[in-house]
Amino acid sequence: MSDFSRETQLLYVGDQVGGVDHSPETLPIYQTTAFTSHSLEEALDKYEALARGEAYSYIRTSNPNRSALAHMMSFLEHGEASLICSAGMGAITSTLLALLKAGDHVVYSNCCYGESLEIMTDVFAGFNVEITAVNIDNLEEVQAAIRPNTKIVYTEVVANPLMRVADIDTLAKMAHEVGALLIVDNTFTTPYAIRPLDHGADIVINSLTKFLNGHSDACAGSVTSTKEMIDKLDPIIQHCGTPGDPFTSWLVARSLKTAELRLLRQMDNAAKLAKALAQHPCVEKVYHPSIPTFSGYETAKRLFECDSRMVAMMSIVINTEDYDKRNEFTKHLKIAHYAATLGGVRTTYQQPIYSSQAHMPDAERRKIGITPAMFRISVGIENADDLIADFTSALNAIQ
Ligand SMILES: Cc1ncc(COP(=O)(O)O)c(C=O)c1O
Repeated sequence: MSDFSRETQLLYVGDQVGGVDHSPETLPIYQTTAFTSHSLEEALDKYEALARGEAYSYIRTSNPNRSALAHMMSFLEHGEASLICSAGMGAITSTLLALLKAGDHVVYSNCCYGESLEIMTDVFAGFNVEITAVNIDNLEEVQAAIRPNTKIVYTEVVANPLMRVADIDTLAKMAHEVGALLIVDNTFTTPYAIRPLDHGADIVINSLTKFLNGHSDACAGSVTSTKEMIDKLDPIIQHCGTPGDPFTSWLVARSLKTAELRLLRQMDNAAKLAKALAQHPCVEKVYHPSIPTFSGYETAKRLFECDSRMVAMMSIVINTEDYDKRNEFTKHLKIAHYAATLGGVRTTYQQPIYSSQAHMPDAERRKIGITPAMFRISVGIENADDLIADFTSALNAIQ
């Protein structure tokens, strides 16, 4: 190297650092676009090893941090293999693109995350894919919608903001009767509440941006399934340019190490908060599957281990639609704050009329129970009594 000019040498100085422990306590960030070879022979050997998943070549194709996170997601979701994407939406869109062709039919839950719905209605419908939206908790309606050319049944386990609970076992049987795949978005519930693959789902998707990362500092998504399915999806994800980047994968993998501690606390807090708010005179309705009067309660009891292991999301309907009162309520909240996301360690809220259901006409929203009085809450890891006190005193202030 010393034969070369200073500017050339500088590019290689620092490549090898003496005394580095090659068994680091945590996986370092492989923030590199490529992995080099020092001869053609080595490069060709690497291509062969790459096909076996034993080497790395180019950042979009594969990266050690992405592989590490993929292993963790497969482990958590009880799948054979996983792909890590740049966002939950990258995982959803690329998966659908890989599996659908003109003439196919999709049955999907009409209360899924808004942009998942838009992908179906605005993009895939334009590719001559037939789309039928259903109330996923009405199994007769789902059965009636399924046709011989149905290729995918798509749902979330518990969907936003009405917290509708999907009976995954029955949906899987219905989909499989016509040879369709059941795809489940597990973002809200996470593998700490349910592993949809164990209930018959074929593919499980997670937005890692939410609860699994939990620190509100990364955007990523995952797809988990059989090795055969993942091998089929991988080229499309590569072509779409949606694989996750090394730093984000590292951040999420780091967060996953504490996910169980966080999520069990968050889900338990949510059940406690739901119970307390259901008793407050200013709250007309609480949407959380642990509430016995809630429509999805029986299905939830079958799907989940217990009340405190269901979901850390809920919606409440307060007893006024008046803007000033709603504003007053939010001003009195000291812990919970408005945020355009969910799943973080700090409790946040949103109003569906300004976010997920903003584009729906008011009359349509009202038909399904979404009014200006509805608040969607993402419950964090705070002390449960503090949270209950915060919401109770803010509600008392508008009584
Ligand atoms: C249930 C659900 N799925 C998927 C997504 C999309 O995730 P991302 O923002 O990581 O693309 C979201 C986003 O809020 C979501 O709530």
